[in-house]
Amino acid sequence: GGGTAKLYEPMGRHTTFLIGGPAQYWVEPHTVAGFAEVVRYLRSASVPIRVIGRGSNLLVKDGGIRGAVIHPSKGEFEDVRVENGQLIAGVGARLKKIASAARNAGIGGLEWMEGVPGNLGGAIRMNAGAMGTEMSDNIVSVRFIAADGSIQEKPLSEIQHQYRSIPEFEERYIVGAVLKGKPATTEEIDVGLNASRVKRRTSQPVGASAGCIFKNPQLCGAGKLVDDLGLKGRRVGNAVVSQVHGNFIVNEGGATAREVLDLIGEIKEVAQHERGVQLELEVKV
Ligand code: EPU
Repeated sequence: GGGTAKLYEPMGRHTTFLIGGPAQYWVEPHTVAGFAEVVRYLRSASVPIRVIGRGSNLLVKDGGIRGAVIHPSKGEFEDVRVENGQLIAGVGARLKKIASAARNAGIGGLEWMEGVPGNLGGAIRMNAGAMGTEMSDNIVSVRFIAADGSIQEKPLSEIQHQYRSIPEFEERYIVGAVLKGKPATTEEIDVGLNASRVKRRTSQPVGASAGCIFKNPQLCGAGKLVDDLGLKGRRVGNAVVSQVHGNFIVNEGGATAREVLDLIGEIKEVAQHERGVQLELEVKV
């Protein structure tokens, strides 16, 4: 079904952190059927499979990735269309594109997606969120490649979800989803879209990062905690804790995954020692 494949593709080209060694096999299918075929083939050859979208919540190690990385982002996967007041989007559709399609269809409640750099699939997998809303608030159903290679669809009621996690899509490969919002006027939606843009611009760094590094612990935001602990500006090599938001680590240029991991280790140690808080990673390593 079309698509391309490469050997030893540097992952630093495909992550917003601009960090990561090579993927042994890099595959870009353009159709759902092509994606399913690649999955069946790789499974039969016992090749480990990873799927990556926008690469915005990901830290790939410097040694790279053994096996195959599938990147469903073009062709059928980037489609977003509206049917009966719901959005039907491919796994590779950018959240920003979904937010704007929703606006044009008079569907409100997806404005938070405007401020989040990511594709639909990764956002579902991690139950991404912002501005008090998360993916599971907008999901009607998810289409995925099942263990036997067939394409199946599950409604939200059958999908376990929690803060920053929808565990079942670690092993099942999402191909698309049906999303919902609520009727709203264009004016109302524009207010929300603008709030998302302003929030991002004023509270998040512009440099290369992977978004928030840690999940928020129960009691207080991880960013505020790191800030209160005086850790902003802390650095290992070219990896620095952002001065703008304490839960972001910025790659100032040429940082390695090792440097980021060492910096993460230092932050966790201080949080544990000073506050007894065990910070948990949001970023996938
Ligand atoms: N704050 C500080 N110092 C900092 C950072 C934040 O004092 O360095 C304060 C802020 O002033 C604010 C409070 O902490 O009063 C909360 O900050 P913010 O509104 O930025 O929210 P957050 O809890 O730190 C969460 C999500 C973000 C999302 C924002 C906005 C998590 C881990 N983070 O951050 O998501 O963009 O809300 O809705 O849940 C991500 O998941 O990658 C991410 C960036």
